[in-house]
Order: sequence, then structure tokens, then C-alpha cells
Amino acid sequence: MSSTIDSILVENRIFPPFPNLVEGAAISGMDAYRALCDEAERSPGEFWGRLARENLNWSKPFTQVLDESQAPFYRWFGDGELNVSANCLDKHLETPTANKPAIIFESDDGKVTTITYKQLHARVCQLANGLKSLGHKAGERALIYMPMSIEAVVAMQACARLGIIHSVVFGGFSSKSLHERAVDVGATLIITADEQVRGGRTIPLKSAVDEALAMGGCEAVAHVVVYKRTGGKVQWHPERDLWLDDLCNGQPEVCAAVSLNAEHPLFILYTSGSTGKPKGVQHAAGGFLLWALLTMKWTFDAKDSDVFWCTADVGWVTGHTYIAYGPLAAGLTQVMFEGVPTYPNVGRFWEMIQRHKVTVFYTAPTAIRSLTKAAETAPEYHPRKYDLSSLRIIGSVGEPINPEAWMWYYTNVGGERCPVLDTWWQTETGAHMLTPLPGATPLKPGSCTFPLPGIDAAVVDEAGGPVENSKGGFLVIRRPWPGMIRTIWGDPERFKKSYFPPELKGVYLAGDGAQRDADGYFWIMGRIDDVLNVSGHRLGTMEVESALVSHELVAEAAVVGRPDGTTGEAVVAFVVLKRALPEGSEADDIAKQLRDWVAKEIGPIAKPKDIRFGENLPKTRSGKIMRRLLRVVAQGETVTQDVSTLENPAILGQLSQAH
Ligand code: WT7
Repeated sequence: MSSTIDSILVENRIFPPFPNLVEGAAISGMDAYRALCDEAERSPGEFWGRLARENLNWSKPFTQVLDESQAPFYRWFGDGELNVSANCLDKHLETPTANKPAIIFESDDGKVTTITYKQLHARVCQLANGLKSLGHKAGERALIYMPMSIEAVVAMQACARLGIIHSVVFGGFSSKSLHERAVDVGATLIITADEQVRGGRTIPLKSAVDEALAMGGCEAVAHVVVYKRTGGKVQWHPERDLWLDDLCNGQPEVCAAVSLNAEHPLFILYTSGSTGKPKGVQHAAGGFLLWALLTMKWTFDAKDSDVFWCTADVGWVTGHTYIAYGPLAAGLTQVMFEGVPTYPNVGRFWEMIQRHKVTVFYTAPTAIRSLTKAAETAPEYHPRKYDLSSLRIIGSVGEPINPEAWMWYYTNVGGERCPVLDTWWQTETGAHMLTPLPGATPLKPGSCTFPLPGIDAAVVDEAGGPVENSKGGFLVIRRPWPGMIRTIWGDPERFKKSYFPPELKGVYLAGDGAQRDADGYFWIMGRIDDVLNVSGHRLGTMEVESALVSHELVAEAAVVGRPDGTTGEAVVAFVVLKRALPEGSEADDIAKQLRDWVAKEIGPIAKPKDIRFGENLPKTRSGKIMRRLLRVVAQGETVTQDVSTLENPAILGQLSQAH
């Protein structure tokens, strides 16, 4: 993150909005932006109430916009009723959108399947009817453990249609992670696939579900619905397992959408925090959908003619907001991709943009950085070799985008004619919070620029006091917004403690450091807690530590992040074994064992890149591990800080030795 901070001092490039994007934009010009911000500030209730009435179809209109009586447990549109799936599908049925492609799906091996809004509606209804026939109903929780597929969206939408609260688990997570979530959420239903296919390889999913259920504690799971993706061999438990096709075939293609309170939970999505246990971030139907749709309009300037492509996986919040819900609510055609950007070659993304004439492209800095490198070594797959002229907007999400990567993206993918939208947000915020607007905001490479209208973002000190521009502090949001997290599933105390600490007097603490430059632009400086960002994936250091210490050889472990040119941050683990310090090939063997163990416990994304063994960890005399020093050691630098308070200063030398 230091490159971002340094760049603030030297970054004086400014890119004004392109006139062709200003004209006709949802928010056209900075004056229009400021007018909306002023409206929100003058009367937030009227502002959000107006937007909710104009943008959503309500089965029962709300009379109260915001109920703050139980703050920070805010309720939005709390006496209104609607259905999210009806707002994504049914509302298009009597319009020309009905016969427009909703999803253009491209499989790993390049096969293209297109489904219209009308067909998608029918499929969602059939699955909803199927789930109903099994006895599942509103308020229950379903785990969705699916590959990137039309079926994954159908599963999410079918749950939303019935009011079943879904919790999508990323297909790269292990059976152990799946089990943890199934237990925490009290799942009664799991929707999965036999296998997933990525980069030419098949990876089993159903068997991970079997393993998770065999671990016990989730006996409430009555059904496992299995989408046949590959036809690979699976074990079958006839008392609970059903093929998705068998469940849906013959079901009516209409299914009344259940009218639900706006505060009915739409989904719970687990994300990492600063303790070992992931948090179940709970979102509410009405507020989430409003925010997803508004940001489609404001940030992406959604137009009927757009072909939208968000490359995220549905297992992350980005895939919820900008695949499963936002683009459908906006009635757009979207591209959905099963595979990876490097298969069959590193030109895959560019080829797909060309093939499907994508107009709005949204990806992560980690992909941009790795494709930058790839384009240098394999110039035949350089984005300049493809016709990317359909693009009008390109976006970035998940981690800071350093100015070099920003410029590469702007120049080579955007052809110097598309704004790069560096969107800052979180699982907890539901949708974009700080982002440039394509028809208004002058861009600075590496800055997420300004908050969206209605979002009262600020940088404050530990006591919640204001911090002047060009000084670092905590990023906070001072007023509630509709798309915000409602609570942590099953743990309201942790919700309050994590996001509304008393010292900050009722404002939402994002967990990121930030600063504003002299022009008021926001620059994100990375997490202030023990959360790492590896390739845009959030990982708690404590989660990885707990996984490591659960291995029979490990006595103690400390995990820190190290800046990495491709993945943003890399996991470095310092490990004390229960046996003598290993050396040479033995150390390599154990390191490999531990890496595989972490992959099995959490998922491959959590694998430490570097494992260092020591007889001990650097600790203060009171026994506190000095992570600050470990971070220095992890970067291969010499500790220059005063280490006189350390119980065992010599240990630093030992831990510095990589192997
Ligand atoms: C954390 C949230 C937002 C959806 C995907 C990640 C980091 C996210 C940016 C950005 C700098 C960013 C923050 C944030 N982050 N976007 N544009 N610039 N940092 O969601 O897994 O909940 O992670 O990702 O540190 O707190 P998430």
C-alpha cells in the first residue's frame, strides 16, 4: 500500500470526463453530482424515500423510510413489502426486455449459452416450485456452493423469490469452511454441483458437501440439490440428494413471488474479520436491492444497450451485487464466465470482450497486474491485439489499484477513451460507496475519488475527531445508508463492536485507513486491522493462524501480510513446531505439508506463500507477539526498530532465514 501513499505526493495527473460519456449520463457533470449530494444532506429521509419509490416495485408501499430507534440496528423501508426476484425478473416480462439476453454464459472451454429474461424467469420459477414441493419456505437458510453458472444465479434468485435466505460459499473453499458455515447459519438446504471446471481442470464440489455433512452438527440439512455440470462420479445419498434437473423438470414456469418485508434478510455472506471466525454479514432485501440498482445506474451509467461483464465469482459480494442482482434489476445483458483469465491463454478476457462486444467491464487489480505481466511475456495476447472498441467504461474493485496498474488498464484496455472507475466498497456496504462517476468525476490514477450521493464518508482519528486533508486516519461513514449490513448473523454484539465502536460515537467504521488529498480526493491506504487482502480476497490472519495451530506438528503460529507485486499482499507464516527446528529438505517437506493443510482447512487462497520456522516468536516480556517486527522480517528487511523490550531478540535473526 505504500506505493499508493507515496503516489499521493507525486500524483498530479488528472483525467477529465469524456464528453460523450457526460452527455446523457445518469449523473451528468459535477454540478448534478453536487445537487444530489445536497438533496441527500438536506433531507436524507426524502432523498432515500424518493429513490426507493422511483426504482423499486413495492407489493406494499412503505410509510417510514428509516427507523433509527434501535441504532446501529437500522431498519429501512421497514413497513414496506417487496420481492427481490420480482424486481429483477417479473418487472421486465411485459417490456421489450423480456426477450433480451439476460445472461450470455461462456464456459471454461468456450461454449456459449444465452438465456433471455423470459427464460430466466421461467427457470427461476421452476426451481422455486421445486424447492416449495420439498417443503422449503421463507426464513430458512440455504447454502449455495456452485460453480460460475446460470444455475448459480437461478439458485440465488429462486431463494430470493421464496424468501429463503441464501449463503453462497465460494467454490474454492474447503469442506471444513463449508461445514463451519452450514452450522453457523443453520442450513436446511444445500444447492451444489457435481464438479466445477476451471482452466481445463475439474474440481469436485458435491464430495466436499458430503464431507462437510459427515462432520456432524448440520443434521438440519434436509436436501442437497445437485446441478449436473460434468457428469463426473458422485456418491449418492438418496434420502437427501436430488438432481437439480429432476427437481425442476415438469414444474410450472410461473411461481408467485412471496411478498416479503423490506427488512427480510436476502442473504448472509461470510467474510473475514480480525478474529478466527468468519462473520456472517446479513443484508436486507429492500435496502440491498435499492443500493445495487442505484449503483448500476450511477456508477456504471447502465444503458439498455450495454453488455455488462463483472468477472467476480458469485461466491463474493461483488458477484452478488454485480452479477446475481444489480444487472438483472437494471435489465442489462451481462456476460458470465466460468473459467480463469489465463486459460486457454492470457488473452481470454480480451478475446471475450471482443467476442461479446462488452461495453462495461469490471474486474480486480490482481487480474490487471497479472495480465500486465503476461502481456509483456506473451505479446501476441496483449490487449492491443484485440478489438476492444465496444468498451465505454472499465472498473476496478477489491483492493487498491496502484497508479502504474491504473495507467496500464486505462491505456491498453480502455484505449485512453474509457474512464477507470476505482470502486471502493465492502461486503458490509452492499454496493459501491466511494467511486468516480463516468459522466462527472475528473479521475486521478489510484484514487477512488469521492463518495456517492447520500454517502457521508469522512476520515477521522481514534477519537472520532476530524482529520485534516493530507493526513491519514480511519475511513468512516457518518450516516446510515440502505445497502448497509444489518447485523452479523447470530452475533449482534460482534456487529456493534466491529463496526460501531463507542469511541467513534455511532459512525460506521470501515476498517480501512484513508486520507484525502488537497483537492478532497479519497485515497485508501489498506486495512487497519488484522485482515489481509490476497488477490482481492479478504483473509483474517487469525483464521490462518488457527488453521496452522490445529496441525499436529505446530505449537504456535503468527501470520502477517507482505506486499506482493501480483496478489497485492501475500501470506507469510512464522511457525514454531512441537519438535526441533527442521532444516533443509525436511523443512521444505513440513512447509509443504502445512501449506496443504491450510488449503484443506480454509481453501487454496489462504495457503501461505512463505513459511518460516523458528524456535520461538518475537514476544514482549508480557508475552505479546510483536507482529510489527514480523512484518518487517517478512519483507526481508532488517529490523531497525528498538527491540530492547523483546524477551528474545535473537529470534529475529533465525526467522529472517527463508528457505
Ligand atoms: C475490503 C473489502 C468490494 C467488494 C470486494 C471486496 C478493500 C475494496 C477497494 C478499492 C482499495 C479496496 C478494502 C475493503 N478494497 N475495494 N477500490 N481500493 N481497497 O470486498 O472482501 O468485503 O473486502 O477490500 O480494504 O475494506 P471485501
